[in-house]
Amino acid sequence: MRRVALVVAAGSGIRAGGEIPKQYRRVGGRPVLRWALELFCRHPMIDAVATVIAAEHAPLYAEASRGLPLLPPIAGGPTRQASVRAGLEALAADAPDLVLIHDAARPFLSSALVSRVAAALEQHPAVLPALPVVDSLRRTRGERVLEDVDRADLVRIQTPQGFAFGAILDAHRRAPPAGFTDDGAVAAWAGLPVIQVPGEEDNVKLTLPEDFEAAERRLIAAAVRRTGQGIDVHRLVPGRRLVLGGVEIPFELGLEGHSDADVVLHALTDAILGTIGAGDIGSHFPPSDPRWRDAESSRFVRHALSLLAAAGGVLEHVDLTLLAERPRIAPHRAAMRARLAQLLELGEEAVSLKATTTEGLGFIGRGEGIAAWALATARFARSP
Ligand code: CTP
Ligand code: MG
Repeated sequence: MRRVALVVAAGSGIRAGGEIPKQYRRVGGRPVLRWALELFCRHPMIDAVATVIAAEHAPLYAEASRGLPLLPPIAGGPTRQASVRAGLEALAADAPDLVLIHDAARPFLSSALVSRVAAALEQHPAVLPALPVVDSLRRTRGERVLEDVDRADLVRIQTPQGFAFGAILDAHRRAPPAGFTDDGAVAAWAGLPVIQVPGEEDNVKLTLPEDFEAAERRLIAAAVRRTGQGIDVHRLVPGRRLVLGGVEIPFELGLEGHSDADVVLHALTDAILGTIGAGDIGSHFPPSDPRWRDAESSRFVRHALSLLAAAGGVLEHVDLTLLAERPRIAPHRAAMRARLAQLLELGEEAVSLKATTTEGLGFIGRGEGIAAWALATARFARSP
């Protein structure tokens, strides 16, 4: 049995508002659409994954789907129904036995739900995830509340919805071109027997702006946190600028190094890389490479942040300690903290910066060099 997941993402997300369509906005550090694509791509019962997109979103889609093993994207239509139809027609050339049709706007489906739908499809041509209605239901007209609606035999329908491929393609081809909000309704219209399996409360459809806030809150609660550390030391020499934490500090000596030798930003870069096990600063920016001569170390930090983002991580907090006998750090601390907060896009309360001397002991105490320690904490979303 060959099963294909068809994810529809060709809507414009009018009700959700925002600067870009909702399926490309990030929740938990990942584009909404990517959550479902990743889940289907790694699900053992799914053989291939295709996405239906709006042609004008192609650049957003390329970015959101980067690196995933997907079939080529399919151009959607003006309604969800038209988009699904376009997807099914495109798949028909190499028709699967079964298809699971899913809304990109539902990022938090579980692997178990996909298994449940796929398993029921062995016996039935049309399977919908459904949840009971727990609130009382009333018909209304304007502000007037009218009669009670019996909720006992009502359910709320979700996606992914599973179908025998030939049957749902045929139903879509015969159905009137508008008016169906999901494929279960198209299947029922065409006379297919449609059955339900249990849906999931977490499998919400992100529809309104507040749905994004609620999703972000639940993801933060469910997130995994990882801490990375970094250490760096540079020698103090005459004839060099002294740059610490991205701030130039007037002093008769400066730190020796290939780049601007900002020991704070180097330790910080290593700490960020440590949260994703991505090696150290030297493996990304070899000191032998002339491109990094006198480079501003902020670019190393930005690179580490982009790797962190690509791994689905969000930086939450850094704690930095400078070890220096001279110059005195205290007068520059506020400026350094502000600069670091700006560079890291964190609030200043999430940027801790401390300094200490070593009481005249060792190479630091003798003023031969400056060292920095950094800890970085990043959050990685898990589906709730
Ligand atoms: N969809 C689609 N093609 C359309 C309309 C919708 O592929 N012409 C997709 C959406 O991208 C979404 C799913 O169908 O993943 C469910 O639709 P909905 O939640 O209504 O999304 P939008 O239509 O984008 O949002 P809105 O109705 O608020 O504009
Ligand atoms: Mg819509």
